[in-house]
Amino acid sequence: MTDHYAVIGNPIAHSRSPAIHAAFARQTGQTLIYERLLAPLDGFGATVAQFRASGGRGANVTVPFKQVAWQLADRATPRAQLAQAANTLSFTPDGILADNTDGGGLINDLQRNLGYRLAGKRLLLMGAGGAARGVIAALLAENPLYLIIANRTVERALELRRQFAHLGIIEACDYRTLDHLSFDCVINATSASLNHETPPMPDKLFAPASLAYDMMYASQPTPFMRDATQHGAVRCVDGLGMLVEQAALSFALWRGISPDTQPVLNELRASLTS
Ligand code: ATR
Repeated sequence: MTDHYAVIGNPIAHSRSPAIHAAFARQTGQTLIYERLLAPLDGFGATVAQFRASGGRGANVTVPFKQVAWQLADRATPRAQLAQAANTLSFTPDGILADNTDGGGLINDLQRNLGYRLAGKRLLLMGAGGAARGVIAALLAENPLYLIIANRTVERALELRRQFAHLGIIEACDYRTLDHLSFDCVINATSASLNHETPPMPDKLFAPASLAYDMMYASQPTPFMRDATQHGAVRCVDGLGMLVEQAALSFALWRGISPDTQPVLNELRASLTS
């Protein structure tokens, strides 16, 4: 029987994951089916149970179910445990294993695809929701000089700082506190662009030669990228590479083979802009 996988979210129609996994499967000579599954907002567990019962081998999980996916699992990898969120589930004879490849995907995109080293850098993470939570441990593991989490609701940033303080130098603040600070790398993990907004950017936010990274992606430069350029960021990139890299890590977990991400990323970029 052909192995069956899915990406589960709500909404889900926009997801590029089926195309990415189909490309990985072609490239590595694997036979599998990968589909989109829309779960009702109060029905993630039932959707997973049904998919598993029908022979599903694993699933990716996207907004808004990453935390509930971690809670639902029988076991979690250390990185999913740290994030208290999962984007990858494997259905094993011993139950559901939760993993989180978002942080690894971001690091691989920054360091491998973009050639950007995080060690010794001043990092700013904007946002303290689910997207931010999934990448903090991976960022700290690269030994930045420090990581500051800024959020509109400062309590959420403070909570993340408490949770990850044992892993490195990490601070939390609101956006006003950023007024006189500069960073080498600014990562947008907010959902502000869904409302065509961007987090506030004080004048000195971007140090010379700084990188602005938006975890969102679009066919055009995102509002965050446009604002960052105007505020002096030298290099502005979107999160399409992170999307492909986190998918590659999930694929490797399930199939035991690491796909070459570059051609798939190129294809995806071309299909977005055409
Ligand atoms: P996700 O899973 O996408 O991270 P989330 O958990 O709802 O979604 O978190 C959304 C994040 O974007 C939060 O950090 C939110 O800030 P608050 O915690 O203050 O709500 C941030 N965000 C959303 N809209 C924003 C805006 N217009 N400006 C700044 N931050 C915004």
